[in-house]
Amino acid sequence: MSDQPRDTIESLFQEKRIFPPPAGFAAQAQIQKAEYERLMTLAQTDYEGFWAEQARAELQWVQPFTQILNASNAPHYQWFEDGLLNVSANCIDRHLPERADQAAILFEGEPGDLRRITYAELLVEVSRFANALRSRGIKKGDRVVLYMPMVPEAVIAMQACARIGAIHSVVFGGFSGDSLRDRIIDAEAAAVVTADGGHRGGRVIELKAVCDHIIDDCPSVHTVFVLKRTGHSVRWNPARDVWWHEITAQVSADCPPLALGAEHPLFLLYTSGSTGRPKGIQHSSAGYLLGTILTMRWVFDIRPGDVFWCTADVGWITGHSYVAYGPLAAGTTLLMYEGAPMIPDPGRYWQMCERHKVSVFYTAPTAIRALKKQGDEYPARYDLSALRLLGSVGEPINPEAWMWYHTHIGHDQCPIVDTWWQTETGIHMIAPVPGVSTLKPGSCGRPLPGIMADIVDNQGHPVCAPDQGGFLVITRPWPSMLRTVWRNPQRYIDTYWKMFDNRYYISGDGARRDADGYYWVMGRVDDVLKVSGHRLGTMEIESALVAHPRVAEAAVVGRPDELTGEAICAFVVARGARPVGPDAQALTQELRQWVGEHIGPIAKPATIRYADNLPKTRSGKIMRRVLRAVAAGHPVTEDTSTLENPDIIRQLQGD
Ligand code: WTA
Repeated sequence: MSDQPRDTIESLFQEKRIFPPPAGFAAQAQIQKAEYERLMTLAQTDYEGFWAEQARAELQWVQPFTQILNASNAPHYQWFEDGLLNVSANCIDRHLPERADQAAILFEGEPGDLRRITYAELLVEVSRFANALRSRGIKKGDRVVLYMPMVPEAVIAMQACARIGAIHSVVFGGFSGDSLRDRIIDAEAAAVVTADGGHRGGRVIELKAVCDHIIDDCPSVHTVFVLKRTGHSVRWNPARDVWWHEITAQVSADCPPLALGAEHPLFLLYTSGSTGRPKGIQHSSAGYLLGTILTMRWVFDIRPGDVFWCTADVGWITGHSYVAYGPLAAGTTLLMYEGAPMIPDPGRYWQMCERHKVSVFYTAPTAIRALKKQGDEYPARYDLSALRLLGSVGEPINPEAWMWYHTHIGHDQCPIVDTWWQTETGIHMIAPVPGVSTLKPGSCGRPLPGIMADIVDNQGHPVCAPDQGGFLVITRPWPSMLRTVWRNPQRYIDTYWKMFDNRYYISGDGARRDADGYYWVMGRVDDVLKVSGHRLGTMEIESALVAHPRVAEAAVVGRPDELTGEAICAFVVARGARPVGPDAQALTQELRQWVGEHIGPIAKPATIRYADNLPKTRSGKIMRRVLRAVAAGHPVTEDTSTLENPDIIRQLQGD
């Protein structure tokens, strides 16, 4: 994190529009002003008491906790340590007395197939799959990797793991075999759950085939559960592969939830950092679940009768907290969609909002920008009157995209909750409480009750003056925070705590706070890229490039992109002569393909430039800020006298 925070949204200084909560919305809101103020004050005056009150009120415990926060091994914090509970029972069983027949999951496949699964049916499905896992010897603490399409069985498998204390690790279905293999090996997974395929973007993604390619490199895996989704034929290894529908038919539909310690790991989710391989972010059971329930109410204002649609894939944290866990724990009806937003046309999301009477809709700025570009006529074709709240996540939302979302989707009636959070934080951290907060387009508002955020300078001193940029940090532990990096506690400390002597959790984002206390996130301060809202480590892409026989050296930076937020720009030094003309074009195609195969299509560089060398300091460090300026087409204002090879800049710019 040697670079200064990058201000990617300078224009926001001009943003003056404000949107108070509509009176009708505020009057019905779950959290109204008095309650919001009570929560804020309680959290300030009695921090642990505040969280204990929430944990007692919101979770069903098998054995109540007596300890709140254990900081004796800080920054490895523990919450509600001696309590026992089961996450899946808190998401499903608890609702049966009141809402057995309410839809838990509404599903729409990309080809248009529909399903409705009630809470009572969900319990049966989850219990059966939990017993199926057990029948193959999966037990508490074992890791299970999911490589699934966005179908209800993905959520069922996650919940089934939670039911028996197995630790799931979902790998996004768009990742390549190499990425899948690395994660399986790091987690030492005993089983993989996949499907014969899934529908995405009008094509079938052959998940089982990808799995087959790498599974022999993963000796820890003894079972691969295969869901039949597409009906495409798949290769079969009878010793290892079992069909979901066959094994679940052979086991009991009754699986009592296992009582687990509050700190029992619920899941690992691998995420990119600026250096090294992806990190297995480890989350807890009770603290994590508590945060998801609270934010469903505080931020999404969930009310009886809602249909909640979060468009994120279960392969990302958003699909964990606001697809697989939060909505069920809050007892709402969750809509899941398998496919892409433009299939068969750019009206798909809005048509689905109409068809399923979606009331709360949560998506990413990249989707909003892409749909906005398609024209206002698509949303105008559909009845969006059931919508009452909109949300955004993944990257800063530009005020223009915010305004379009507000006008054309929300018809000026729906507050927009711009939620800042991370894989590591587990839940929304800085976000509006929609019945209370006045909104400013482009700002994610103020920290939620019980979340102590701040902005600090390089020395770790709080930045008090308004609108001064700095590092966004969290100054006190919170229940849904990550617990560690899987099997690498040192990396946990080094990445998130060390820079300021373990005093704060370091988010890796730069931000400023305005005179009203509103936060404006300015993007990453490290070299992590945000492409279409997904986190990609430059290091992973560089390693993939360098693994190609013709590449000697590579550096990857982001450049601002209207649609995807950031686009990947690679600078490559080839072995031998610098490729030019048709040779360069062919190599570019080959390298893009190569990165797609090694990491996944989302990691393909948008542009590749070839040079004889990369701009480096005399100590050999690549000057990324210079590369960023070149990639963005900006003049290089950097003092290049410290470069070992200043002439290289002209070559980089010349192409
Ligand atoms: C960025 C996604 C601005 C930020 C939940 C963060 C945002 C990273 C916002 C985490 C937002 C997420 N405004 N930036 N509302 N939400 N970010 O782990 O840079 O995939 O650090 O989690 O996304 O990405 P992750």
